[in-house]
Amino acid sequence: MGKYDFDTYIDRRGTSCIKWDFGMERKGRDDLLPLWVADMDFRLPDEITGDIVKRASQGIFGYTDPKQDYYDAVRRWFKKRHGFDIESDQVTITHGVVYAIVLAIRAFTEPGDAVIIQQPVYYPFAESVRVNSRKLVNNQLIYRDGRYEIDFEDFEKKIIENKVKLFLLCSPHNPVGCVWTRNELLRLADICRRHGVYVFADEIHSDFVYSSFSHTSYMTLGDEFRDRLILGTSPSKTFNMAGLQVANIIIPDSAVREKFRHENMITGYSQCNAIGLEATKSVYTKGDEWVDELITYLQGNLDYVRDYLNKNIPQIKLVEPEGTYLLWFDFTGVTDDSRVLEDIIVDRAHLWLDPGIIFGSRTALFERVNIACPRSVLVKAMEQLHGAMENLQ
Ligand SMILES: Cc1ncc(COP(=O)(O)O)c(C=O)c1O
Repeated sequence: MGKYDFDTYIDRRGTSCIKWDFGMERKGRDDLLPLWVADMDFRLPDEITGDIVKRASQGIFGYTDPKQDYYDAVRRWFKKRHGFDIESDQVTITHGVVYAIVLAIRAFTEPGDAVIIQQPVYYPFAESVRVNSRKLVNNQLIYRDGRYEIDFEDFEKKIIENKVKLFLLCSPHNPVGCVWTRNELLRLADICRRHGVYVFADEIHSDFVYSSFSHTSYMTLGDEFRDRLILGTSPSKTFNMAGLQVANIIIPDSAVREKFRHENMITGYSQCNAIGLEATKSVYTKGDEWVDELITYLQGNLDYVRDYLNKNIPQIKLVEPEGTYLLWFDFTGVTDDSRVLEDIIVDRAHLWLDPGIIFGSRTALFERVNIACPRSVLVKAMEQLHGAMENLQ
C-alpha cells in the first residue's frame, strides 16, 4: 500500500470540468463515461492542496509575479528529475504550452513559412500552424509491427524542400506513447541544426515514463543544439493543474528568448495567475513521492488494460506505450469504417474517447484512451467496450 489514494472515485460533475460536464454540448449525450481529454481524475495530496488553500484563504488575489523561491522550485524539479540545470533568467512563464507554441510560431516564422510536425500528434500542433497562416508540413510517423518510428529521411527531405523554419517536437509523444531515445533525438537535432530550424520541444509529458524507459530532455543533447531551442514544460499534466494556467518555457539562448518574450508582450500578457504560481511552487517542492506513486498506479492501469484486451477483445490492439497516460488503440482489426467505430464507442459502449482522426488524417481507425482514473472506472469502461463488441458479432 502506498501513502496516497488513487482508488477513490471523486465525482467531478458539476464543477464545469470539460472532461465530465460537457457531454451534452460536445457529444450530444450525457451518459458517456469520459476517457478522453488529457486530464486526470486524481486529487492532489493534502500537503499541496494545503498550500493552495492557505494562499486562497487570504482572500486577496492581486497582481502577482514569481520571486526567487518559485524559480528555485522549478530548477530543483528539472535538475532532480531530468538531469539538467537552468538559470532563473532562462524561464518565461506563460498561460500554457499551446499558447507558447503559438508564440513561437509567430516569433520565429512569417505567414506562409513552413512548420513541420509528426502526425499522429496532439491536434493543437496542426491547428496552431493553420490558424496562424503558416504552411503545415507533416513528417508522418511510421507504424510498423505495433510501434511508431520516425522517418528521418522524409524529415530532412521535407525540411529542405519546404525551407522549414520551425519543428514542433512532441517528446514523449502524444498520442502514440513513444519516449524518444537519445539517439533518435540526436538525429532529429542534428538535422534541425544543419538546416537552421528552430525547435519547440514540447516535453509536457516527460514525467510520465514507464519502467525500463527514460526520458531524454532536448536540453541534455548538447550545447550545440540549444541555440534555437524553445523547451515547453508545465506542471499541468504531471499534477493535473491545467486549470491553474502556468507553463515554464525554458529558452537557453538570450536572443531567442528576447524574441519570444517580445511576442508574449505584444499579446498584452503581464502578470501570472497567483494561485497557479503558488501551486507550481508547491508541487515542484513537495510532489516527488506523489508522482512516483502515481506512475506505479498508472503502470497497474496499463497492465490491467493490456490483459483485458488480450483476454477479451484481442481484435483491438494496444500500441504499447513507453510513456504518457494516454493509450492508443488500433481498431483496424475491428472495422474499416470510422463511422462504425464511432457507433461502437459512443452509441454502443457509451464511452467518450478521442477519435484518432483528430490527430492526423491517416488514423481514423484509432482511438486515444486516457487511463488516468481510478481502476474501478477503467474496469467499467473496458466492460462497456467489451459489451459493445459482443453485441456487434
Ligand atoms: C503534448 C501536449 N502539449 C500541450 C498540452 C496542453 O498544454 P497547456 O494546457 O499548457 O496548453 C497537452 C495537453 O494534453 C499535450 O498533450
